[in-house]
Amino acid sequence: MRSDLGRLIGGALAAILLLTAAVAAATWWSDRRDRVRHESDAATGGVGARAIPIMTANGCSGCHTIPGVPGAQGQVGPRLDGGLADRVFIGGLLANNPENMIRWIRSAREVNRHTAMPSTRITEQQARDIAAYLYALK
Ligand code: HEC
Repeated sequence: MRSDLGRLIGGALAAILLLTAAVAAATWWSDRRDRVRHESDAATGGVGARAIPIMTANGCSGCHTIPGVPGAQGQVGPRLDGGLADRVFIGGLLANNPENMIRWIRSAREVNRHTAMPSTRITEQQARDIAAYLYALK
């Protein structure tokens, strides 16, 4: 009888510990996401939270697979995912930094007339918003 109770209490304690660990991990993860998004907005002068409809409306999703963008499963260009932030060159040509990313997103053809990516001619602010979103995927 007493050992049954002991097992019960032990089980309850273990469950509480596991739950606490899970909550701590979830909080840590969401804090990290917030920090990365904030840093990415600051680095690009954009607002990543506005980017999804801009990407959907301007054909990015038809050519690229982009996490978090509904229907973005394009296979024409490279995946725009967490690896993008760590890539050395954009379009194989431009050093990977926010200003070049914005330039590429707006006018890829002016950078490289042979690229299959068209110049999208979206506004600079729209390109900043998209760059903020893409860099925050890391
Ligand atoms: C018609 C298809 C097409 C459309 C539309 C398109 N892209 Fe691309 N994109 C490509 C291709 C192809 C490449 C690879 C180009 C190269 O390396 O020359 C590319 C490359 C890129 C890169 C560089 C990736 C890297 O790793 O070098 C980024 C960033 C990018 N596109 C973002 C966008 C965004 C944002 C939009 C929408 C505003 C968009 N693209 C619209 C086809 C497209």
